[in-house]
Amino acid sequence: MVQLSERPGTQKITNLQQKFTYEVGAMYDSENRFLEAMQMMCQCCQNNQLKSLMETHIRETEQQIQNLEQVFKILGQEPQRVNCDSAAGLVSDGQKLMLLAADNPKILDLALTGAQAKVENLEIACYRGMIKVAEQMNQNQVVQLLQQNLQQEEQTAQKIEQCMPQLLQEAKSAGGSTSGKSR
Ligand SMILES: [Fe+2]
Repeated sequence: MVQLSERPGTQKITNLQQKFTYEVGAMYDSENRFLEAMQMMCQCCQNNQLKSLMETHIRETEQQIQNLEQVFKILGQEPQRVNCDSAAGLVSDGQKLMLLAADNPKILDLALTGAQAKVENLEIACYRGMIKVAEQMNQNQVVQLLQQNLQQEEQTAQKIEQCMPQLLQEAKSAGGSTSGKSR
């Protein structure tokens, strides 16, 4: 069970505005974690199409972080990261898989793509939820900023899906053990 006392800066949430601010903080934390992870992943990937997709999304994520800072400003708050366990978990799972797949570049590329697909889908779910709340609060400017971010995540998720068949094919022909022995 999570103890609130273990989360400095986390206060009880008693209304929609506080819940929304919490979610913006968690998204701000997630985007920063994902930016750092993508910068590392981008250095490891071999496939040019994947690399350029990552580079584009790194630039977009930098802009998304600025958009979230703008959202904080509109809400009259200082930008504050709220630890997001799901983002931390996705990054750590992705890094573990990358280490395990490090000996085969084609499998590594596929692992990176799968990890990034999970990240994009988490972000899409979060932004969609946040936009619904911002609409309820009549925060039109906030809605616009979050929609910009959502659109980029949706486009990235789509591009990843388009890359996947080729990466999968390459991974299949990349050889390595097919003995199916479990570890
Ligand atoms: Fe993203």
